[in-house]
Amino acid sequence: MNIFITGGNGQVGFELQRQFAPFGTILAPTRQELDLTNADAVEAYLAKHQPGLILNAAAYTAVDKAESEPQQAKRLNAELPAQLAEYAAKQGIHLVHYSTDYVYPGNGEPPWQEDSPTGPLSVYGQTKLEGDEAVVNSGASHLIFRTSWVYAARGNNFMKTMLRLGREREALSIVNDQIGAPTPARLIAQVTALATSPHASLLTSPQGAHTSQARSAIYHLAPRGETSWHGFASEIFSYAREAGDSLAITPEGTAGIPTVDYPTPAQRPLNSRMALGKLESALGITMPTWQSQLALTLKEHLSN
Ligand SMILES: NC(=O)c1ccc[n+]([C@@H]2O[C@H](COP(=O)([O-])OP(=O)(O)OC[C@H]3O[C@@H](n4cnc5c(N)ncnc54)[C@H](OP(=O)(O)O)[C@@H]3O)[C@@H](O)[C@H]2O)c1
Repeated sequence: MNIFITGGNGQVGFELQRQFAPFGTILAPTRQELDLTNADAVEAYLAKHQPGLILNAAAYTAVDKAESEPQQAKRLNAELPAQLAEYAAKQGIHLVHYSTDYVYPGNGEPPWQEDSPTGPLSVYGQTKLEGDEAVVNSGASHLIFRTSWVYAARGNNFMKTMLRLGREREALSIVNDQIGAPTPARLIAQVTALATSPHASLLTSPQGAHTSQARSAIYHLAPRGETSWHGFASEIFSYAREAGDSLAITPEGTAGIPTVDYPTPAQRPLNSRMALGKLESALGITMPTWQSQLALTLKEHLSN
């Protein structure tokens, strides 16, 4: 079976390539090989390679830049998933799509449920929501995983930025009133593999028969627990210090600041908490804590 992974060089896409290697032939074209903004090229690629499973990890993820490039964000985040879902529906194949807590309005303190009212605060969140809606309405057999604060041992992310800044500076001010769960790309790929495996599948019956839309749904996918960006940074520095990394930043050097003191073009939700019960009970798993996942990811990064 051909497994088509979009965004294969991104954080999640790269881990999906690793995780799905035993399940089929991985097709993960680079941006140079397939420009996903080109709908005709995507159509031709699908027709040529006839994938049996599509994992859509590509996205326009530059949250601030999306405010000034809404058309590009819409193509990648809304129109591409719609196109892939239409193809999946027509061919009777599964589509896995990734989304974000930024589709929710970000107010209050209770964790969002998958059926909570949406209300994106940014172009990125709005276009991601349009992508989710297109997939849900397509009739394709699908899983949509809404995740948060993605990072990995490779790629551009908060963990790596903090390590760099922590080596350069003795003091840093970091936002402490946005609350969520940092999610390693590898955990996302592992759960995706579990959810699509014929043995523990959300997409097939216990006998392996295709049940189409039966369990197609939106699921939150994040580790257990919550923290702020300031809490996340403090934990990164603490693990790095323990691992012998030469940081300039001192334990007292990180100051917490409110979001209003760190203005950005796109508004961020203060409440990025997501309830995990639906995913945990569907798969019969207990998600690990964000701290244990950070320790693993950091260890991998520091040993590279
Ligand atoms: N990052 C987060 O904090 C976060 C949080 C919540 C949800 N998510 C969601 O999780 C999913 C994966 O995110 P991620 O962090 O892995 O993203 P990422 O690291 O930014 O990767 C995105 C991938 O999309 C590719 N791409 C973008 N435009 C393209 C184009 N025109 N043609 C071909 N490829 C293109 C990029 O290619 P290049 O490598 O060539 O740039 C990259 O490989 C996305 O759906 C995202 O919305 C992410």
